Amino acid sequence: MADGHGAAPSAKFTQMLDGTQEDWDIIAKNARAFNKGLAKRVLDHLRLLDGDFGGYPIDRLEHSLQTATRAHRDGRDEEYVVCALLHDIGDTLGSMNHPDVAAAILKPFVSEENLWMVANHGAFQGYYFFEYLGLDKNMRDQFKDSPHYQRCAEFCHKYDQAAFDPDYESEPLEFFEPMVERVFSKPKNSMYLKAMKTAE
Ligand SMILES: [Fe+2]
Ligand SMILES: [Fe+2]
Repeated sequence: MADGHGAAPSAKFTQMLDGTQEDWDIIAKNARAFNKGLAKRVLDHLRLLDGDFGGYPIDRLEHSLQTATRAHRDGRDEEYVVCALLHDIGDTLGSMNHPDVAAAILKPFVSEENLWMVANHGAFQGYYFFEYLGLDKNMRDQFKDSPHYQRCAEFCHKYDQAAFDPDYESEPLEFFEPMVERVFSKPKNSMYLKAMKTAE
């Protein structure tokens, strides 16, 4: 039976109960190499938004680029710009909760305030259209006591709700790729962090 792994060493266990240090040395080595490709995988997933209009004047990739470009040109730092670029990456797999998906991907790599902004932008963005869908446009008010309320309101006002202009000239995705690489190369919070740092 072909195993598809060629000559690469692999763990011997068939259930984790039987795992050995040798098995896990092999798996950890693979994981460290695999993790280095995370930024590229995230960018590949973002590209799935290309051509996805959903009735909007521009497609979702263009909206992402425009949001990030507006933030960048307004002088925002790299981490913020990467959050702006990826804020809607969850549209494909999280149609009912897209901000949660972006937040989960960004969580190990960004500050608490940027994470909060991404995780909650859906309710804040609703200020600009929920009334047209029979929803409460002031849904964001539930967060009025949060220290991050203003940051999220500003993100939506200045960059997200403003990024549907077909005539705006955004930077291409390649412009942001090195930023994504840098942000995703420095995890801050992860239960795997210690394991990923050993034997680098
Ligand atoms: Fe969104
Ligand atoms: Fe958006």
